Amino acid sequence: MPSGQRLEGKVAIVTGAGTRGEIAGTGQAAAILMAREGAKILLCDIDVERAEETLDVIEKEGGIGKIFIGDVTSEKDCEDMINESVKQFGKLDILFNNVGGPGGGMVTEIEEEDWHRSIDLNMKSAVMGSKYAIPAMEKSGGGSIINVSSIDGTQAGSTRNVPYSISKAAISHLSRIMAVHHGRQNIRVNCVAPGHVYGAFPNRFKKMDDEWRDLRRKAGPLGTEGTAWDVGWAVVYLASDEAKWITGVVLPVDAGVQAASPLSMWDDLNDEGGPKTSIEY
Ligand SMILES: NC(=O)c1ccc[n+]([C@@H]2O[C@H](COP(=O)([O-])OP(=O)(O)OC[C@H]3O[C@@H](n4cnc5c(N)ncnc54)[C@H](O)[C@@H]3O)[C@@H](O)[C@H]2O)c1
Repeated sequence: MPSGQRLEGKVAIVTGAGTRGEIAGTGQAAAILMAREGAKILLCDIDVERAEETLDVIEKEGGIGKIFIGDVTSEKDCEDMINESVKQFGKLDILFNNVGGPGGGMVTEIEEEDWHRSIDLNMKSAVMGSKYAIPAMEKSGGGSIINVSSIDGTQAGSTRNVPYSISKAAISHLSRIMAVHHGRQNIRVNCVAPGHVYGAFPNRFKKMDDEWRDLRRKAGPLGTEGTAWDVGWAVVYLASDEAKWITGVVLPVDAGVQAASPLSMWDDLNDEGGPKTSIEY
């Protein structure tokens, strides 16, 4: 049963609304939370079974959703996705451009095919989704677009992934530019930048064993582990009218990792011995 009314009367699209494996992804978590807050959700995924799994949860809780199967790296599929929202629910208020994908290597290692794939998954998908969403939102009197960057979009991460990192940096800047271009249409554009989240996405690169999860947890000033649900709640907020005066923002959801430097976290990361870096003044 929907548990809140923060998105009552709103219609939302979530791209990549399914999840890989058993851990919730950010798309799945955001779709379920937005439905709980009263939004009707168009669940877009390339994989029907994954989308059905999310829809199942939403319907069991008394929420409303429909599935759209498409590939958001295709402009035509993005146009069809927006049209489907209007056809199913009469309008569009919220677009969560969640789909993103890997792109590995230092510049000396990048394969051309991987480069194009990563740029398409991370950037083209958000650009093309927004291209068709904006006119539909304008007809609804305005809207909220939420893009997904990453901690890797502001800092070099532990993975050497130039195509992924720079496309995520571009998504942050795209969000600011779109916020400026479409503010007068009453369309807000913001971005979430997840950190070391325990979720479906990073789990496919490196198996999240306990040791790795612990290291990622310790790297954050809060010292706690985040999940896709933490990202989902940030999306709910940015989608809601509570954020009606917020646009052009890149919101880290990362336990404070982006506020820290490597040496500031050194003692916490080495809490079982080793040299200490804290300096007494
Ligand atoms: N979890 C983290 O630690 C973390 C950190 C930083 C950024 N992110 C970002 O969060 C997003 C990951 O989302 P998630 O956790 O829901 O990921 P996920 O890997 O679980 O994928 C979600 C869904 O996207 C679908 N999908 C993949 N390609 C598609 C396409 N071309 N068209 C339509 N659907 C497609 C998949 O079938 C899957 O069901 C990415 O943008 C990622 O870069 C995650």
